[in-house]
Amino acid sequence: MSIVSAETGREHRITLPTLRRRKRRGEKIAMLTAYDFTFAQIFDTAGIDLLLVGDSLGNVVQGHDTTLPVTLEEVLYHTALVSRAAHRALVVADMPFGSYQVSPEDAVRNAIRCVKEGGAQAVKLEGGVVVLETIRRIVAAEIPVMGHVGLTPQAIHRMGGHRVQGRTEKGRAKVMADARAVEEAGAFAVVLEGMPAELASEVTASLSIPTIGIGAGGGCDGQVLVMHDLLGLSEWTPSFVKQYANLGALASQAARRFAEDVAEAKFPGDEHVYS
Ligand code: KIV
Repeated sequence: MSIVSAETGREHRITLPTLRRRKRRGEKIAMLTAYDFTFAQIFDTAGIDLLLVGDSLGNVVQGHDTTLPVTLEEVLYHTALVSRAAHRALVVADMPFGSYQVSPEDAVRNAIRCVKEGGAQAVKLEGGVVVLETIRRIVAAEIPVMGHVGLTPQAIHRMGGHRVQGRTEKGRAKVMADARAVEEAGAFAVVLEGMPAELASEVTASLSIPTIGIGAGGGCDGQVLVMHDLLGLSEWTPSFVKQYANLGALASQAARRFAEDVAEAKFPGDEHVYS
């Protein structure tokens, strides 16, 4: 059930208690990445519960091969654009590589910037057991944290590529231990990325916080996709993606028609000219 504010006529923002309730009631949670005002506004009014300003911006916005070059300043910039548009969705700023690994103190300082300067309601960071203390410290500073375990793109060099995790006994145990550590540290939710569906279901059943899956099957409490994959704006999409639109083809067609019209002096027409 959505609750509308008498003052603004808008639905109230999704909160941590809302998400906990959703898990208890078995109501699924939808999260999308967003990096700018325009798309954040579209997704917010379309009823997306969480907007993640993902460090995937390194790939889909900046054209890098990995997420590693993304800086905190860049995440803050994009988070501020998204926060300005999001009235209902909870905005999560993804802490980029280097912004939480040095020390818990440094991580808390950077998480505070995500809230103060980016306007985020929460932050996300990758890892499990090794970031337990860091999550605990950020949560103690009253900043909600979303964990991220399994395939963690910032660990690309350790993993040897974007590889599905948890396929061996040892791997399964690591994913489970990481997810439990994230919950124990006080995170409000955890992303489960790139793992067998059966393992993700098992993790979901063993945690009291919501799990948000990407390439982790339908047994999670929610799902997240990178917006460029959802909308057909990526050159290549992984097999777990369902593409809901082909905006890339539409944009290309529109640009081509515009170029033709300009070349043939068909644009601007009389109706597009000031008198
Ligand atoms: O950066 C990102 O977009 C993410 C999602 C894939 C979960 O971390």
